Amino acid sequence: MISDKRIALKFVLVLLFCVFVSGDSEVRCMEREREALLSFKNGLLYEHGRLSSWRGDECCKWYGVVCSNTTGHVISLHLNGVNLRGNIGSSLLELHRLTSLGLSWNDFGGIPIPEFIGSMKQLQHLYLRSSNFSGTVPPQIGNLTDLRSLDLSYNSLMIENHDWLSSLSVLSYLDLSHIDLSHTNLLEQITSLQFLHELHLAFCNISVFTSSVPPRIGNPTNLRSLDLSFNSLIYTSIFAFGSVFESLEILNLEYNQLNGSIPGLTAFSSLKELYLTGNNFTGSIPLSIGQLPELQVLDLSYNSLEGLVSESHFSKLDKLNTLDLSFNPLLVLDIAPDWSPPFQLKTISLAGCNVGSYFPKWIRTQTNLLSLDVHGANITDEAPRWLWTTLSSLQHIYMSDNQISGTIPNLSTTSIMHMDLSNNRFSSPIPLFPTNISGIYLGGNMFTGSLSSMCKARHDQLRSIILSDNQLAGEVPDCWEKMPNLLSLNLANNSFSGEIPPSLGALRDIAALQMHGNNLSGELPYSLRLCQELRFIDVGGNMLTGEIPTWIGQMYKMQFLNLRGNKLHGSIPPEICNVTNIQVLDLSINKLSSIIPDCFNNFTVLASKNTPYFDLYYFGTNFDSMDENNQDGYSSFQWKGQQLEYKKNLGVLKLIDFSSNRLFGSIPKSFSDMRGLNSLNLSGNSLTGYIIPDIGEMEMLDSLDLSHNQLSGKIPTSLAEIYSLGVLDFSHNNLSGKIPTSTQLQSFNASAYAWNDGLCGDPLPKCPEDGMRPYATDPGENMNEKDGINLSFMQEVWLSMAFGYIFGFWGIAGLITLKKSWRIAFFNMLDDVEYWF
Ligand SMILES: *[C@@H]1O[C@H](CO)[C@@H](O)[C@H](O)[C@H]1NC(C)=O
Ligand SMILES: *[C@@H]1O[C@H](CO)[C@@H](O)[C@H](O)[C@H]1NC(C)=O
Ligand SMILES: *[C@@H]1O[C@H](CO)[C@@H](O)[C@H](O)[C@H]1NC(C)=O
Ligand SMILES: *[C@@H]1O[C@H](CO)[C@@H](O)[C@H](O)[C@H]1NC(C)=O
Ligand SMILES: *[C@@H]1O[C@H](CO)[C@@H](O)[C@H](O)[C@H]1NC(C)=O
Ligand SMILES: *[C@@H]1O[C@H](CO)[C@@H](O)[C@H](O)[C@H]1NC(C)=O
Ligand SMILES: *[C@@H]1O[C@H](CO)[C@@H](O)[C@H](O)[C@H]1NC(C)=O
Ligand SMILES: *[C@@H]1O[C@H](CO)[C@@H](O)[C@H](O)[C@H]1NC(C)=O
Ligand SMILES: *[C@@H]1O[C@H](CO)[C@@H](O)[C@H](O)[C@H]1NC(C)=O
Ligand SMILES: *[C@@H]1O[C@H](CO)[C@@H](O)[C@H](O)[C@H]1NC(C)=O
Ligand SMILES: *[C@@H]1O[C@H](CO)[C@@H](O)[C@H](O)[C@H]1NC(C)=O
Ligand SMILES: *[C@@H]1O[C@H](CO)[C@@H](O)[C@H](O)[C@H]1NC(C)=O
Repeated sequence: MISDKRIALKFVLVLLFCVFVSGDSEVRCMEREREALLSFKNGLLYEHGRLSSWRGDECCKWYGVVCSNTTGHVISLHLNGVNLRGNIGSSLLELHRLTSLGLSWNDFGGIPIPEFIGSMKQLQHLYLRSSNFSGTVPPQIGNLTDLRSLDLSYNSLMIENHDWLSSLSVLSYLDLSHIDLSHTNLLEQITSLQFLHELHLAFCNISVFTSSVPPRIGNPTNLRSLDLSFNSLIYTSIFAFGSVFESLEILNLEYNQLNGSIPGLTAFSSLKELYLTGNNFTGSIPLSIGQLPELQVLDLSYNSLEGLVSESHFSKLDKLNTLDLSFNPLLVLDIAPDWSPPFQLKTISLAGCNVGSYFPKWIRTQTNLLSLDVHGANITDEAPRWLWTTLSSLQHIYMSDNQISGTIPNLSTTSIMHMDLSNNRFSSPIPLFPTNISGIYLGGNMFTGSLSSMCKARHDQLRSIILSDNQLAGEVPDCWEKMPNLLSLNLANNSFSGEIPPSLGALRDIAALQMHGNNLSGELPYSLRLCQELRFIDVGGNMLTGEIPTWIGQMYKMQFLNLRGNKLHGSIPPEICNVTNIQVLDLSINKLSSIIPDCFNNFTVLASKNTPYFDLYYFGTNFDSMDENNQDGYSSFQWKGQQLEYKKNLGVLKLIDFSSNRLFGSIPKSFSDMRGLNSLNLSGNSLTGYIIPDIGEMEMLDSLDLSHNQLSGKIPTSLAEIYSLGVLDFSHNNLSGKIPTSTQLQSFNASAYAWNDGLCGDPLPKCPEDGMRPYATDPGENMNEKDGINLSFMQEVWLSMAFGYIFGFWGIAGLITLKKSWRIAFFNMLDDVEYWF
């Protein structure tokens, strides 16, 4: 029996040995921990599918799970960005050896951070960044005395009691960004953290630095990285304690309200990265900056710095790789052309600075340069040749809004990915581009010749081509299958001729197609119906023929369709009413002869008074280099607000223009369902019948032009209810009766009602039944027909300009500036039309 037992024991030992040996390469999971993990998973409502690997016994191989090689315990659980939702089960407490827990970038739906986390005493790293936690940070976290890293940033958390922080005595990394710290003296607690290496307090609503705080932030010899960006710091006193920051390597004070001049920085002898973007610094850049031997990144952009920048500002900066002085409009670069800088930069941004008329020659020495931004820098020089040849690693080049001239050589062997030369004076043919280029922005130059060179290579990465406002000619090339990922194509305002090429149908992602103002002829290619992502088609101002294709009805994402000023004939197809998202539909100045289909109740966006969703991204807008003209485009943070506002403004416009065609029949009843419409123009057709009685339901109308038709009957009284109406024209119809009384309708000039059969009443002379002569004897009758036609022609021109302005503006929206006031300008222009009358 004993021997049997021995044999059994041996067997067990051998078995254990085998397990141990195999465990060396493949640790086995603890059953209890496996169950804990499964129970944690079951508490979740949703995850991104990554946890589908959480099956079977081998929990150490599950996604996000790391076990100890020696003990087999789960020591790390990282489930970042897998879209977890639901509850965080306390079964995690069973993971007794868990030292690192990462649940960042999930969406826990605003639940509080569970208090039981405070019982996971062994935790050393806890990452809960941006996972939609809310409520108060549980003070139990203070029980995690081994914690080295704590990231609670970018949730909706509050800190009420902050005593717990001082218990985390070995903390090295702390990120509390986006927690309001304005009411706490938490900074005082932080000062007791002797081992703190890296501290992030961005967006914490910290406004005042009491002078006692900065010297005590951490142990001076330990803090390496301090991020206080996006607060409301107003005192520069932080710099006064420079000597205690001699260990600091990264200092980020971006987007505060620091003012006065940048103080001397000599004490910051270890500084590698300095970010002072978006403050209110004035005065000149201190020469002491040039004495920081470790400096790699210097970002002083978006301040009000002034004075000269000279070579001595950079004398010891031989490690500098990023220099950003952009948008300090009073800063003048005063650097000798033969300067040989101590550094080799990767990124230079001098946008919106006064670089001087000449292209800075010293840039030629920067042969490792990846990104050069000199847009809006007042350069009037010729682009130097070395830009394209010597700077062979250049990937991003932004030079828009200067007066740079010259030609561009064959770029096919360069590394350029993004190139914005808009609004300059370049005058060569369009060059050959490298295969991997993604954005080509050359609008507003004097490029000549044809585009055929684009067909020489495939460009799989290409997303945007903006070539508007140049002097390009010849046929639009028919090789678009070679750039299949194009999102926006803008060839507007050139001299392209021939037909719109069928290969555009290969652009399955294209969202914006702008070709207005060319000499294009033929029909819209049938293949275009395959471009189902199209939201914007502007082919106005060409010589297109044929009928409006019925496949337009399949372009369900279409928001803007401009066929204005072509030679289209036939009817307005009822299929157009399938395009329910339409927001601007301009078919004016064509030869359309049909009735107007009565299906406008289908246009849901036009029916709604809400602002539709609109994304400038689809216009290939070159956001990377764009800035507001500096008056209020102060920072890119504010600028994003601008962008939103800009989108909103652009989205506001809802317009139908069928003017100057040969449309007949009556105004469809369904028009009145377009309650969100801003502008309706049906002038210059042969419309008959009454003005629809419900017209007053289009409450948002700013502009209504029904002139030059044969409309009869009375002006509907409901019209008096449109208070927003700024432009009105009913002239040249057969309308009769009394103009309804409302301050609105009476505020227009008599010309708005001129040339009708029998309109009367203010602003026209009183009606006969009121005892006055009817309109027929008005002095206006002396106006001869020719004058009338002239008037309407001029009016046409004015309105053409107005709408041309919109489309023209969109055409170059990506290239020039974001103008808040454009809509105002546009409607002022319409007002001018009115005034002109
Ligand atoms: C466990 O062992 C693997 C190689 O077998 C190694 O790559 C890994 O870093 C080890 N993990 C730990 C936590 O020691
Ligand atoms: C957070 O969760 C709440 C509740 O589910 C939800 O309404 C909110 O949109 C979420 N916030 C974010 C930023 O995801
Ligand atoms: C954990 O923290 C809470 C609140 O800070 C405290 O009351 C409790 O005693 C602590 N528990 C342990 C086990 O330390
Ligand atoms: C910032 O703090 C002030 C008081 O110091 C408070 O009135 C304000 O609401 C806070 N702002 C945010 C966004 O928390
Ligand atoms: C910066 O200073 C200018 C005037 O010097 C002032 O108008 C502006 O409000 C200040 N901006 C901030 C963010 O403090
Ligand atoms: C800095 O801003 C504060 C508060 O706005 C102001 O009182 C102070 O005069 C400014 N200092 C300088 C040097 O502009
Ligand atoms: C551009 O340079 C000219 C002279 O070269 C100067 O008069 C003008 O003020 C500068 N403009 C800007 C915006 O710096
Ligand atoms: C452009 O350069 C490439 C690479 O050097 C060369 O193959 C190609 O022939 C050149 N094209 C023209 C038109 O010069
Ligand atoms: C272009 O990009 C592809 C994939 O990103 C890469 O493999 C290729 O080497 C790049 N070509 C050039 C010429 O840089
Ligand atoms: C068209 O482009 C030319 C430059 O080629 C420019 O001068 C003109 O203003 C542009 N026209 C419109 C309407 O944008
Ligand atoms: C498009 O419109 C036409 C005519 O109005 C209609 O017959 C057709 O069913 C619509 N097609 C779709 C797919 O909605
Ligand atoms: C209105 O739109 C729907 C699709 O939303 C379409 O089925 C219907 O045919 C359209 N009606 C007309 C008259 O086009």
